[in-house]
Amino acid sequence: MKILMTGGTGLIGRALCKALRAEGHQLTVLSRQAALVPEMCGKTVQAMASLDEWHSTQHFDAVINLAGAPIVDAVWTPARKQILRDSRIALTEKLLQRIADAAHKPAVLLSGSAVGYYGNRPDVELDEQSEAGADFAAHLCADWENAAVPASALGVRVCLLRTGLVLSDQGGLLGRMLLPFKFALGARLGAGRQGMSWVHIDDYVAMVLRLLHDEQLSGAFNMTAPHPVSNAEFTGQLAHAVGRPAIFVAPGRLLKWAMGERAVLLLEGQRALPVRMLAAGFKFTYPELPDALGAVLGK
Ligand SMILES: NC(=O)c1ccc[n+]([C@@H]2O[C@H](COP(=O)([O-])OP(=O)(O)OC[C@H]3O[C@@H](n4cnc5c(N)ncnc54)[C@H](OP(=O)(O)O)[C@@H]3O)[C@@H](O)[C@H]2O)c1
Repeated sequence: MKILMTGGTGLIGRALCKALRAEGHQLTVLSRQAALVPEMCGKTVQAMASLDEWHSTQHFDAVINLAGAPIVDAVWTPARKQILRDSRIALTEKLLQRIADAAHKPAVLLSGSAVGYYGNRPDVELDEQSEAGADFAAHLCADWENAAVPASALGVRVCLLRTGLVLSDQGGLLGRMLLPFKFALGARLGAGRQGMSWVHIDDYVAMVLRLLHDEQLSGAFNMTAPHPVSNAEFTGQLAHAVGRPAIFVAPGRLLKWAMGERAVLLLEGQRALPVRMLAAGFKFTYPELPDALGAVLGK
């Protein structure tokens, strides 16, 4: 297949590029750092510096849309919120325009979202039918999804990837958490009741490949492992995995003071279940957190 990917240089994108190259697909990655694409995504991967380079006669069989400015890294000022939205929603809208213009439309669009779609839901288990939340992150996800959905009216199969916390040995949130945990400075966040819907990168990639190839599947999918945990459980399991205690608590008030509104990403959460992937018969290699952490940490 000829595949166009946005966000191909990212944590998830790089793992996906590797798996897609192994399947023999021809990849093009849209990137603001086009010159680095062969190094980051593979020598045979083509770079596209702007969607304006996608001419109407150029043909892609599939589009995978993951680009988005990092959500935890910077304070959510109005300007930062605009960057978070534009890098996802405006880019997806532009992608849809290119798809509409293409003489040969892709058969499938796999487009990003996150479990933040559901807002703060500590005590309930969520499936893909569950209601959207109302905070900034929830609106960001819902608007990102809504920008992709109109592709279905163009005859494109659309899958929305409601991504949980991806566990990888290549960085991401787990990569940042590891150092303090290794120095026995790991801490539960606030009350620790908030849900953490995690997923091992290998299972995530396998789910994306399934959605790419299975013509029966469309709509929203919780891209998470079947056993989400609370933040207190995650803290305990990670401490156990690195063989160090985690006796501290990062008080919610302190996190809110230090991080502002984006502290919701740490202090609030959800327990999203991959109900639709399980119904499709998908088998997880790492359904339980201890095995996933062990695999990521090479234990
Ligand atoms: N990793 C997770 O645990 C997780 C969880 C939930 C949702 N997600 C979502 O899934 C997507 C991929 O995640 P990831 O962890 O692979 O992200 P990542 O490592 O931060 O990579 C994000 C990608 O987005 C592009 N990007 C960054 N800032 C941009 C901007 N201002 N404008 C346009 N493009 C920009 C970058 O591409 P270039 O620099 O090449 O242009 C990069 O490849 C993201 O949208 C993320 O929000 C991830």
